[in-house]
Amino acid sequence: MRKVLIANWKMYYGPVKAGAWVRAFRRERLPKDIDISIAVPAVSLAAARASLGRATIPALAAQNVFWEKEGAYTGEISPSMLLEFGVSVCIVGHSERRHIVGETDEMVGKKAAALQRAGIAPVICVGETEAQRKKGQATKVVRAQVEAAIKDLKPDGKFAAIIAYEPVWAIGTGKPCRPTDAKEMHDVIRDVVAKIWGARYRDDVRVIYGGSVNERNVTEYVTTTGIDGALVGSASLDPRIFALVCRAAVPA
Ligand code: PGA
Repeated sequence: MRKVLIANWKMYYGPVKAGAWVRAFRRERLPKDIDISIAVPAVSLAAARASLGRATIPALAAQNVFWEKEGAYTGEISPSMLLEFGVSVCIVGHSERRHIVGETDEMVGKKAAALQRAGIAPVICVGETEAQRKKGQATKVVRAQVEAAIKDLKPDGKFAAIIAYEPVWAIGTGKPCRPTDAKEMHDVIRDVVAKIWGARYRDDVRVIYGGSVNERNVTEYVTTTGIDGALVGSASLDPRIFALVCRAAVPA
């Protein structure tokens, strides 16, 4: 299965810097056998698209969406609006949205389903906090997050969901989860997928890891069985470093 790498810029780079980032990244040597996306702030989608032109590498991704098609939802953005920029992938349920903005499992499920209906692949983020892990609740929390997020999704096709395991304590801390521990949780996620979608999807679903991944440790993750790629925050802010991450992820 092709590996996936997704850059998550978070709330960095308005249109001017986004355009420059994309132009610099396009000059880098990039591996072909990997799916690379860049999740940019909504206000920078137009600039990123303009700098990409018709290029599909990297694919353009969004960081959030609303589940309705249109209407009186001040400040929200619909899947069809994202499609106008050629967005093909969209993150939902990032822990920063769950914990800072208060997004619930139910909202994440609605967003994922709306994306898929519109023809955009959802990247569903799940992961426990440090406190939950210490209390021995990590597995229970992640199971519930996955169940709520995928129950209304189609398991396969072009817009199949990707699940990103991102333990909250590993995000932006420089303290990544060990690949073997990540793999254990990926197995839990695959069990939930098998229960809801059917056994054959256990190995078909793409499950990626996120949390302090960089150009030095990415290889360990993508070569661990059951880890299909990475969601990269801080190490994606510099286009040259993110290109290093991409090259390190695919053996020459
Ligand atoms: P990080 O962020 O790579 O900076 O830890 C990852 C993420 O939040 O997706």
